[in-house]
Amino acid sequence: MEERIIDGEELTTDIFEENLRPQALDEYIGQEEIKENLRIFIEAAKMRNESLDHVLLYGPPGLGKTTLAHIIANELGSNIKTASGPSLEKSGDLAAVLSTLEPGDVLFIDEIHRMPKFVEEILYPAMEDFELDIIMGSDGKSRSIKIDLPPFTLVGATTRAGDLSSPLRDRFGIISKLNYYNEEELTQIVKRTSRVLSMNISDEAALEIARRCRKTPRVANRLFKRVRDFALVKGTGIIDLDITIDSLNRLKVDKYGLDQIDIEYLESLITKFNGGPVGIETIATSIGEETTTIEDVVEPFLLQEGFIKRTPRGRVATEKAYNHLNVNRQGTLF
Ligand SMILES: Nc1ncnc2c1ncn2[C@@H]1O[C@H](COP(=O)(O)OP(=O)(O)OP(=O)(O)O)[C@@H](O)[C@H]1O
Ligand SMILES: [Mg+2]
Repeated sequence: MEERIIDGEELTTDIFEENLRPQALDEYIGQEEIKENLRIFIEAAKMRNESLDHVLLYGPPGLGKTTLAHIIANELGSNIKTASGPSLEKSGDLAAVLSTLEPGDVLFIDEIHRMPKFVEEILYPAMEDFELDIIMGSDGKSRSIKIDLPPFTLVGATTRAGDLSSPLRDRFGIISKLNYYNEEELTQIVKRTSRVLSMNISDEAALEIARRCRKTPRVANRLFKRVRDFALVKGTGIIDLDITIDSLNRLKVDKYGLDQIDIEYLESLITKFNGGPVGIETIATSIGEETTTIEDVVEPFLLQEGFIKRTPRGRVATEKAYNHLNVNRQGTLF
């Protein structure tokens, strides 16, 4: 499957994402409850002159976990060291990172659910007692040595909290679930991006992008950049509603944020299979996609937005899907 512009995951084209990252809690839009709590915990940690409790951030891709991890470090006035679960292949990899920590540092581990179990076990004493237990030597002559670590804050990020082992999850004092953003928040994010990138956008145009970005800031920023290109070439100094609608239509992102493959899925379900119920393999074959792709990347959004339902006998198209495709229950166009 090609890269989809409405994909919440980071794409190869998402260069410059760094520049768009808010640096402080006040600049971070939405997630009010999480921000409020973090503000208090950070303030309290500073007052006690202690490191902040370990923080676990979880939620779908592109909602701002990495951004928030950096903000936590900024607000603490600390340095941040970063690693990612899959890159910590050996216990030595993690030990090496841990041994560079200085008092109060933030250690950010992205995709923390993808750390091998035996690496994860090194984290337990490190998180709990700020201690690094390492095994030296081999051949029965090995001995374990303990090294004291400075107090630090582990910030873990994951899109799958369910994949985290409970011993690891239990060692986080602060667990925050990031939620999808509403239109108002996304509009603000688009406007902020327009200020950072110095390209004006009208209120209605920002709202239009907010509506089509699948509630995800990363997608909103990506759509903004493409729309900006159209506006630039057309020579207007501002991104208005006409240009926005025109460019989003060209990009084949419709008013609900559905793209071509979503539409193909719904069309197939409705016209070829009478709206279901039909098995996922059958739909996948009919539109020439892998079953796993359909299950992991196409259906979740359609389910969440109520275009389809899962039943024991297969997938079923809802009224919303019929309405959206302008098809009535007999399968003919209105
Ligand atoms: N609350 C927010 N306010 C403003 N911009 C945001 C916010 N959340 C995310 N963004 C923007 O969205 C982009 C993606 O955010 P980020 O990389 O933090 O997501 P993520 O949750 O770490 O994604 P992944 O799961 O793929 O690692 C960033 O460039 C950032 O500018
Ligand atoms: Mg991230």
